[in-house]
Amino acid sequence: MQQTSQKLKTSDWLAAWNDGDLSALDSLMADDYTRTSKATGAVVDLAGLKAEIDGVRQAFPDLHTTIDDVVEGEDTVALFWTSAGTHSHEYLGVPATGLTVTTRGSNIVSLQDGKILKESVTWDGSELLAGLGILPLRGIATPQIPETQSEGAEPDMEIMKAFNRQFVTGVTVVTTKDGDKARGLAVNAYCSVSLEPPIVLVCVQKSSSTYPALFSSSHLGINILGASQRSTVGVFASKSTDKFAELDWHEGPNGSPLLDGSAASIEAEIQERFQAKTHTVFICRVRHAEVGDTAPMVYKAGGFYDGAGLAEL
Ligand SMILES: Cc1cc2nc3c(=O)[nH]c(=O)nc-3n(C[C@H](O)[C@H](O)[C@H](O)COP(=O)(O)O)c2cc1C
Repeated sequence: MQQTSQKLKTSDWLAAWNDGDLSALDSLMADDYTRTSKATGAVVDLAGLKAEIDGVRQAFPDLHTTIDDVVEGEDTVALFWTSAGTHSHEYLGVPATGLTVTTRGSNIVSLQDGKILKESVTWDGSELLAGLGILPLRGIATPQIPETQSEGAEPDMEIMKAFNRQFVTGVTVVTTKDGDKARGLAVNAYCSVSLEPPIVLVCVQKSSSTYPALFSSSHLGINILGASQRSTVGVFASKSTDKFAELDWHEGPNGSPLLDGSAASIEAEIQERFQAKTHTVFICRVRHAEVGDTAPMVYKAGGFYDGAGLAEL
């Protein structure tokens, strides 16, 4: 049953979250109001709170919050609440999943002259995502959630680029279907995780135009390019709207596009989608594999090489 507070006009608080009536908060909050997230340590003012509510309500338009319990102290009130909503638009970089999520949290508010001066919240946006089964990697929050504390110095970007240039990989094309349309992008952030069970991972930038379709797919294709597919890399590293137009390809058992002439192709079922700031790490269980005898393409420091011509050490 919905609870109310003697000391706090919870109807204004609910009007903001449930009806989007953000102006209801103006009379509820003191001038120097702050809200601190216990999960991230982030502190926002009233404008920040309104932006947060707006973001949640855009992503979950049918959001409904109920106050489950109210515990009143002398100048404090603790609110325990439950929210439910359908994930209908992008939230914290995660495309709509259409899933309904229920999340619980609590707010401890300090009152000054009947208004909220400080609010400490045991909830943050990533808990909503966790409710959808989408997990932020520990210590690598989603872009909108500030990091709580610096974990020490980091090398600058040029050193990291130089480091990456020393690493040799193959090149894959990661594919999916967007309705009937085949989509894909070039990816070298591929890794085999385990053989038993057969688990692999790929990292995909959220700004990729393939990303929303990939995110909402149950399966994806991973094609290890062969040495004769140099022009294919250019196509899949581009923003072309029909990358498959000039290519021969076939579908895996679950519909993922597999490129003919690849050194090897797999179709895998997406099992986890970890949020890592600008990228999402897809952890996938392999369901189907095709291996050819074409030599693979080799990629190092921006150059592409024939995997058949490597000098053995
Ligand atoms: C060799 C190579 C490796 C790449 N690796 C990745 C990668 O691991 N993850 C990623 O998100 N993009 C990677 N890219 C960049 C994408 O392929 C590129 O941004 C592409 O234009 C995305 O296309 P889309 O926006 O149509 O999806 C790579 C590009 C090249 C050429």
